[in-house]
Amino acid sequence: MSVLGILASGRGSNCEAILRAQKEGRLRARVALVLSDHADAPVLSTARAAGIDARFLDPGRGGARLAPAAESSYVTALQSAGVEWVILAGFMRILGDALLHAYPGRILNIHPSLLPAFPGLHAQRQAWEYGVRVSGCTVHFVDAGVDTGPILLQAVVPVEEEDTADTLADRILQEEHRLYVEAINLAVEGRYRIEERRVLTGPIERNPT
Ligand code: GRF
Repeated sequence: MSVLGILASGRGSNCEAILRAQKEGRLRARVALVLSDHADAPVLSTARAAGIDARFLDPGRGGARLAPAAESSYVTALQSAGVEWVILAGFMRILGDALLHAYPGRILNIHPSLLPAFPGLHAQRQAWEYGVRVSGCTVHFVDAGVDTGPILLQAVVPVEEEDTADTLADRILQEEHRLYVEAINLAVEGRYRIEERRVLTGPIERNPT
């Protein structure tokens, strides 16, 4: 079974959904390690409560990125834990060469919009303010850009007229939790191939939530 390492900066609801799927036998992989760039991130206690090794690793002074020495320490921690796939779950740093080279094509991210629309921060509010009639979430492979890598799966969430940015974000988050487990299962089992930037999976068999 593939070994996962999760990187997360905050609340950790996607991490929690992945760990719940593992507990319930719906995840066809095993989470070995959770790393956070914030010492007080709720995700660390959530992961520890589930019996997972969860650590704060100092991000250094790299601004929007990990400082180079810090990024090396993330790679070392992941490799020492035997991690094969890196799962970004609300990790608020742009990855650099050290992580991208250590895990080529083996890093996934989830983003709360239908990319390429509304990349970057506050995607749900961006979509709501723009006035789109549907939004959703995207799981993509991570490359050197921000929310630019090949798209593995997307889920559509209709925008209701009564929605606020917050109620829309809540419904998107529910879909994120379902979609991420489905995407991880597809990825770790190698049920995809990438042509240019198109990810081909064949027909998708839906997992129950
Ligand atoms: C999610 O909306 C995810 O799409 C985005 O960051 C948020 C993380 O939420 N990348 P959580 O920490 O998983 O609850």
